Amino acid sequence: MKTIGILTGGGDAPGLNAVIRAVVLTAKHRYGWDVIGIRQGFDGLLHDAPANILTEERVRPLLTRGGTILGAVNRGNPFRQVVETADGAVEPIDLTDEALRRLTNMGVEALIVAGGDGTMAIAQKLLDRGARVVGVPKTIDNDLAQTDVTFGFDTAILTATDALDKLQTTAESHHRVMVLEVMGRNAGWIALKAGVAGGADAILIPEIPFNIATVCAHIQQAREHGRNYSLIVVAEGAAPINGAQEYYIQTGGVMRLGGIGYIVGNMIADCIGAEVRVTVLGHLQRGGQPTPHDRWLATRFGSAAVQLVAQEQWGYMVALRGEQIVSVPMTDALQMKQVDPNGDMVQMARDLGIVFG
Ligand code: F6P
Repeated sequence: MKTIGILTGGGDAPGLNAVIRAVVLTAKHRYGWDVIGIRQGFDGLLHDAPANILTEERVRPLLTRGGTILGAVNRGNPFRQVVETADGAVEPIDLTDEALRRLTNMGVEALIVAGGDGTMAIAQKLLDRGARVVGVPKTIDNDLAQTDVTFGFDTAILTATDALDKLQTTAESHHRVMVLEVMGRNAGWIALKAGVAGGADAILIPEIPFNIATVCAHIQQAREHGRNYSLIVVAEGAAPINGAQEYYIQTGGVMRLGGIGYIVGNMIADCIGAEVRVTVLGHLQRGGQPTPHDRWLATRFGSAAVQLVAQEQWGYMVALRGEQIVSVPMTDALQMKQVDPNGDMVQMARDLGIVFG
């Protein structure tokens, strides 16, 4: 083995650059390998491009930098494209073999992919055609079943908790109800952890469909006891009992989760007549410097991924179990990890007086 490749797919997460850095440094110092960075996720294999060798000098300063220097793309499988034929019909074509040819032309003997469930699913297709691939799990949502935690999650919690701390002071001044919508897709991890850390009164998560009357009664009760402000955290994937999740539609008809914060805000304003303000934290949760925890975890994952390559554990990804880094089949990354509505974390929050609707 002389040269390996790395790409980052799906949405970015704080810590991705630390993974790239750890891969390059470990490959060089422990094994004497070069690392080629593939740009824009798997899209980087759709066109011929000069091999981009990542030097030690290039990656050394990356530990603290958010985002990914390689770029990332968060949409479907670029190897499956629909083209128009000469007679005007449309048909799907599979570009996987072309992608494999480009990897070979670049001299990439094994590929490390850092990404979430979508990235691992595409990587699995490359693997099925003979590519030598290992994975690094990534998402701020912490919703991947095979690892105790993903890097980026801790940074997202810090951002969301900081937002709650700031909302609390202005809520108190104006006697307002502050609603904070956070990310997380179909898992309530960010909402739960930031909500508890930020002293929220109510936390609405996808795993527990909510009844707004319960939230309103709770706010009302606090007011009767002389506390005239409330903090409500709403996960973007939360939905009322018998209701649907909220999406907004972007150009091209792409559906994105989001908007439930405003709906909850309006419902609360209607039922208790208090002043309500809504903040949608959005992509602030994905940006900025990774926390020391995320730098540490990302560095361990990057370094361990190089060792998976050395051990030829194709089709495996690194994961954290307790304090140990282990390897698990990439296909298992597709299993989702949600908050247990009956688990001890939710129970603890309830014991503190937090309502889930
Ligand atoms: O999976 C990470 C995540 O930030 C989700 O929490 C959110 O729903 C989604 O990505 C947003 O994706 P995009 O950056 O494509 O809008």
